[in-house]
Amino acid sequence: MRIFTETGRLILREITMDDIEAMYELDSDPEVHKYLGNTPIDDPEQAAERIRLFRKQYVEDGIGRWAIIEKSSNEFIGWTGFKLVREERNNLTDFYDLGFRLLRKFWGKGYATESALASLEYGFDKLNFDKVYAMAHIDNSGSNHVLKKLGFKFIETFYLEGDLHNWYRIDKTD
Ligand SMILES: CC(C)(COP(=O)(O)OP(=O)(O)OC[C@H]1O[C@@H](n2cnc3c(N)ncnc32)[C@H](O)[C@@H]1OP(=O)(O)O)[C@@H](O)C(=O)NCCC(=O)NCCS
Repeated sequence: MRIFTETGRLILREITMDDIEAMYELDSDPEVHKYLGNTPIDDPEQAAERIRLFRKQYVEDGIGRWAIIEKSSNEFIGWTGFKLVREERNNLTDFYDLGFRLLRKFWGKGYATESALASLEYGFDKLNFDKVYAMAHIDNSGSNHVLKKLGFKFIETFYLEGDLHNWYRIDKTD
């Protein structure tokens, strides 16, 4: 199993079909989905389908979201990393989006910030990205806070599926 990078407390590795149970716990939690369109899943097969999609992106796009593993427990705590967004968003296509989604029991420990920072370093240093985009629902205080802490600059707001979102960018030179 491929490990991409690590931090003091976390390992970022590829997501595999062995992660179905944890992915189901993550994506069936309504609190996790509060600012993600309010559509939690209710069938483990939907979690399996998401993992297949991530793994397809590894092959087709050379990148995809990565599992975050807590070193002290060896538990899957969520995912972060990049997605190559091919559909048009805000007049852009084919750009890299940074995201993160953690199991609720692991919130508030600084893990989103730590894992996202490691992803950005990998993206800029190893993959040679020159810029990365991110977005968050305007009411998602946690996510907006993490993105600003990471150094993302606010660009503008835009509507996604009827909800207002903040749109951000960070450049390698930042
Ligand atoms: C958003 C999310 C990833 C944050 O994860 P986390 O590991 O708790 O974040 P961190 O511990 O790294 O928090 C970093 C900072 O954000 C703050 N923060 C976290 N949640 C917050 C909230 N709900 N309101 C205000 N601030 C918040 C923390 O206090 C911390 O601030 P500090 O470092 O200045 O003290 C997590 O809540 C989550 O997975 N939410 C559901 C999925 C989601 O919304 N993903 C983002 C989609 S855009």
